[in-house]
Amino acid sequence: MNLNASVALVTGANRGIGKAFVEALHQAGVKRIYATARNLKALQDVVAIAPEKIIPIVLDVTNPDQIAQVSQQTPDVNLLINNAGVLGSGGFFAENSLETAQWEMSTNYFGTLYMIRTFAPILKQNEGGAIINLLSIASIVNVPVFASYSASKAALHSLTQGARAELAQQGTLVVGVFPGPVDTAMSEGVPLDKVPPIQIAQAALQAVEQGDEDVYPDPVSQQFFADIHQDPKAVEKQFAGMLPQ
Ligand SMILES: NC(=O)c1ccc[n+]([C@@H]2O[C@H](COP(=O)([O-])OP(=O)(O)OC[C@H]3O[C@@H](n4cnc5c(N)ncnc54)[C@H](OP(=O)(O)O)[C@@H]3O)[C@@H](O)[C@H]2O)c1
Repeated sequence: MNLNASVALVTGANRGIGKAFVEALHQAGVKRIYATARNLKALQDVVAIAPEKIIPIVLDVTNPDQIAQVSQQTPDVNLLINNAGVLGSGGFFAENSLETAQWEMSTNYFGTLYMIRTFAPILKQNEGGAIINLLSIASIVNVPVFASYSASKAALHSLTQGARAELAQQGTLVVGVFPGPVDTAMSEGVPLDKVPPIQIAQAALQAVEQGDEDVYPDPVSQQFFADIHQDPKAVEKQFAGMLPQ
């Protein structure tokens, strides 16, 4: 897909990887960027990147009515970037683990499902286009310190595969991105090497240009996928070993 002619919509564009996507899209020369976030004021710095082409819009991905309204204002989108996500801490047996799991599922899984259901017809009208979903290495193997986050990202991985199959008929490329730790607020306190968010955004956009479906955007992700092909059980045990004893 040619990014020069693209019109992109990014969820959770106000910070972290979402903001980096806006920067990378601008660098790639796209025509227009709908930068969406729950709080319009939080988008001021993002719009300042390129005020002539970045349009701020309020959007909470857990609100299907709001998604429908936004889709009416953005009929030219041909690149949908489902970046918004949340992570709660604690395992399945923590005191508030049910609330945490519901919050993560509502945002990471159902939020993305609402988005792709609403925007698939728009992408179809715009020659198919592409969808980028922000998954994680935790989509593949549960990381017990983020237990229900991992479950929500595993569900999102399955959604990505199923949507890819269904939307192939209309020519929509569905890209899954599997980062390791990235240097954003979400991974604050994670004692691992982290890559800058722009690296994730640039790798994902390159995949869209090349027509690649799966993106391993950083060294941790690449090593993880090499290890998982060799010995999946060893990787599961390695992640289990991250729990405090
Ligand atoms: N950081 C990592 O290590 C890492 C690794 C793998 C995958 N990822 C994934 O990458 C994506 C971006 O994460 P990040 O690291 O940039 O995290 P972040 O800095 O915490 O940013 C999360 C973004 O999602 C937005 N958001 C949360 N709930 C939302 C909702 N209901 N509606 C709309 N926006 C919502 C937040 O908006 P507010 O400012 O309003 O809260 C914020 O813009 C997530 O899907 C995450 O799971 C991150």
